[in-house]
Amino acid sequence: MCPGRNVVLLTASLVLGDLLRQRRFTPERPLDTDQVPGTLSPFHLRFTVSRG
Ligand code: HEM
Repeated sequence: MCPGRNVVLLTASLVLGDLLRQRRFTPERPLDTDQVPGTLSPFHLRFTVSRG
């Protein structure tokens, strides 16, 4: 297993947390987070970004 795994997860979490604090992300298509399927591709999600 990659020994850098926790460094990568921590860094990505901090970057995402900072982005969420600074901007408002609105999904371009409705996203029901109660019913997100396991097959949802994160590569196809699109968000409109505005100053939060
Ligand atoms: C997005 C970032 C990263 C990805 C996707 C990634 C992915 C991987 C993968 C797939 C392996 C092979 C695991 C295996 O053989 O089963 C690996 C091994 C390794 N990774 Fe990463 N890694 C990342 C970041 C890092 C970082 C930041 C470090 C160091 C600070 C690191 C250090 C290593 C080392 C030393 C190995 C070899 C482990 C061994 O010899 O068994 N990686 N990584």
